[in-house]
Amino acid sequence: MKRIAVMSSHRGTNLQAIIDGAKRRLFAGTVELVISNNKSSYALVRAREAGIPTLWISRKFSSSQEEFEHKIIDALSSHDIDIVCLAGFMRVLSASFIARYRGRMLNIHPALLPSFPGMDAQRQALCHGVKISGCTVHFVDEGVDTGPIILQRAVPVLDDDTVESLSERILAEEHVAYIEALKLVCEDRLCIRGNRVFTRCPEPTGGTSID
Ligand code: GRF
Repeated sequence: MKRIAVMSSHRGTNLQAIIDGAKRRLFAGTVELVISNNKSSYALVRAREAGIPTLWISRKFSSSQEEFEHKIIDALSSHDIDIVCLAGFMRVLSASFIARYRGRMLNIHPALLPSFPGMDAQRQALCHGVKISGCTVHFVDEGVDTGPIILQRAVPVLDDDTVESLSERILAEEHVAYIEALKLVCEDRLCIRGNRVFTRCPEPTGGTSID
């Protein structure tokens, strides 16, 4: 079983989906730690209700980005975490932090990347007039929402969609997508070649391999 940490800044519905998925054994992992940079994040409440250790690590109460990240690394190490799931974590992480967890850190984004990276993805999709949007689970790299894509789920954009209605429909798919991605990652079924993620590795590997 993989030991998973989830990092979330606000309401934590993806965290909840991951907690529920772990409880139902939909993937071979357990949620061992929830970290938030926001003391009043509802994600922390969800974790406490599920009996999962929580940590509030604030950038504001750290003297530098380096110190902030050191606190996170210490927490992840002391809980022996294998996989880090970003789920609405609203803080940028440095290249050295990302390098440490390369191939082991996932993120979810509410658009079909590489379209509409960054903030307000659902609004960007509506403004652009696309007919299909969706969500993407990807490994994290140094860019903003640029890492190797694990999987995507599509959602039609309807004529009467608002940012709220589209976001809600995408969010329901996010909850499914994160579980599907974790199933693949926890079973070491993925390998990364350049920017592509394969479920059938070209050669046998002992885990997620990276060129
Ligand atoms: C989700 O839309 C996710 O794709 C984005 O931030 C939002 C987090 O929502 N990265 P929640 O906190 O999991 O409900």
